[in-house]
Amino acid sequence: MPTFKIDGREIPFEKGETVIQAAQRAGIDIPHYCWHPGLSVAANCRMCLVEVAPPPGRPALMLNVLSYDPDTGEYVDQQKPKLQPACQQVVAEGMDIRSESSKHVSRARAAVQEFLLLNHPVDCPICDQAGECRLQDYWLEHQHEAKRMHDEPVHKPKAQIFGPTIVYDAERCIVCTRCVRFCEEVAQDPVLSVRERGNVNEIVVSPGRQLDNPYTLMTEHVCPVGALTASDFRFKARVWFLRSARSVCQGCATGCNAYLDYDPRNQTIYRHRPRENAQVNRYWMCDDGMLDYQRAHENRLSDARLGSARSHRGDSPHPETPESVPVGAALDRAAELLRSADPAKVAVLLSAQHSLEDNFALLDLAQRAFWSSNSSGAGGARRESLGSSRVFATGRPAGEGDQILRHQDKNPNSAGVAALLAPARPQNFAALSAAIDAGAITHVLALGSDIDPGNVAGDSRVASLGRLQALVTLGTWEGPLSRAAHVLLPASSWAESDGQFMNAQGMVQESEQAVQPLGQSRPAWKLAAAIGVRLGLPIPWRTLEELRGAFAGRPLAAEPASKRSLQPGAVS
Ligand code: SF4
Ligand code: SF4
Ligand code: FES
Repeated sequence: MPTFKIDGREIPFEKGETVIQAAQRAGIDIPHYCWHPGLSVAANCRMCLVEVAPPPGRPALMLNVLSYDPDTGEYVDQQKPKLQPACQQVVAEGMDIRSESSKHVSRARAAVQEFLLLNHPVDCPICDQAGECRLQDYWLEHQHEAKRMHDEPVHKPKAQIFGPTIVYDAERCIVCTRCVRFCEEVAQDPVLSVRERGNVNEIVVSPGRQLDNPYTLMTEHVCPVGALTASDFRFKARVWFLRSARSVCQGCATGCNAYLDYDPRNQTIYRHRPRENAQVNRYWMCDDGMLDYQRAHENRLSDARLGSARSHRGDSPHPETPESVPVGAALDRAAELLRSADPAKVAVLLSAQHSLEDNFALLDLAQRAFWSSNSSGAGGARRESLGSSRVFATGRPAGEGDQILRHQDKNPNSAGVAALLAPARPQNFAALSAAIDAGAITHVLALGSDIDPGNVAGDSRVASLGRLQALVTLGTWEGPLSRAAHVLLPASSWAESDGQFMNAQGMVQESEQAVQPLGQSRPAWKLAAAIGVRLGLPIPWRTLEELRGAFAGRPLAAEPASKRSLQPGAVS
């Protein structure tokens, strides 16, 4: 690989790379505002200027400048090297770049920084960007001097509504055009542009339009200063109080890599932002995904509940209110109901909204409890009888997709559920509904709360659930499956547990726990293990590692088996 030098350090580079790209790969930070690795080069901020030493035997490219001499009070003629923007300068073999080691570069960076702050408002105490603002960071690093200009700064529009999600402050804007380029090059909606020149320029939305495409929140994310703020996050949290968990977006089957930013003091999640992954989402996320973090707190199930079939059929004039109970009591009741079932009429409803761990645990529990002739088959014993006839899967209904990131499948783990069942194919909720109506299924052990009704009308899906003798739901959110449950067990959300999800490309991706489980909730796989223990089954996976070891690379498909009796187990 060819090499060049930055401040005397030998750096390998790939043909066509710019200085800033090669430096970044080598872990060297060259300060920059307008450059973004996912956007075209604009080279307008001049913060990344570096000195390029001439090749041996060639004269340096010099500029004539007037320099102020504080001793004489005169301006004198001088020469200085012509600095180059590292974001635009393509690397050549043997090139000698001076960045930190050049006094000309240090002066230029301080001057650029001073220039950008000439008319900048002192908004830091109330600015959402404070704590992660490049103007703050680079002032400290490259200028660190009091402001010399005491004239009234130029005032520009503040708090302009660009659209439903974004608010613009022109005084804070350094007109780096990242937002303009993002809209044009990534969102493919060139709705932003620059108006005017010099110190009165600003970003504007095209006449008659709003910033309202499906990727508007990314403009706030790429803005290096506090000029674009998200209506959703504005004034809600100070970033230095937040911690980040490496998460996977739950919004669709693309599985964009993300950070969940949360405040550990109040266990609250404040935002979702992209985590770079060249194979999945590059640097981006869509608005739906960036706002999907809200589901960690909204519409949640935090208590165990016991209901009755009658109360959920919808045909009772006096529906009974489900009763909140301790999780232990609900687990006991779930085991009692399942123990009394005819195994041939028990179905499992998996959820593409839940992790591989949760789905595998439920499947493994059902297999041990109802479909295996060898219940002591932990860790490699013979498996039989997991056919597709009583395994169903559902999730959120399909939605809008595009050619950028958004997938029509609005579930993060459809491929994972399919892989767990391969070569059998999971049947959809419509098939389960038909089996219930035909009397072939009387008991259902369900994961998740949502239903993709397929071709079943909304009323009839609830009606078919109401015909069950027992519905045990391990659910995270209120939904048709939680409302119809005879026993509802609160499952923690993806934000509250470690889990793996397989995206539409077939990539298994890990999502980290951010906050503690809400209320009484706990990971669904732990709830499944607790039911198994109560059923007297040898559950060999009591830790996440054991669980992952159990499903790693294991074929799960088999045929239905004979009925066998279940023994009550120890209370865990
Ligand atoms: S709003 Fe932000 S991203 Fe857009 S030009 Fe101004 S500083 Fe750059
Ligand atoms: S494209 Fe899908 S996975 Fe990516 S951010 Fe949007 S909803 Fe989330
Ligand atoms: S990063 Fe702005 S000019 Fe290079």
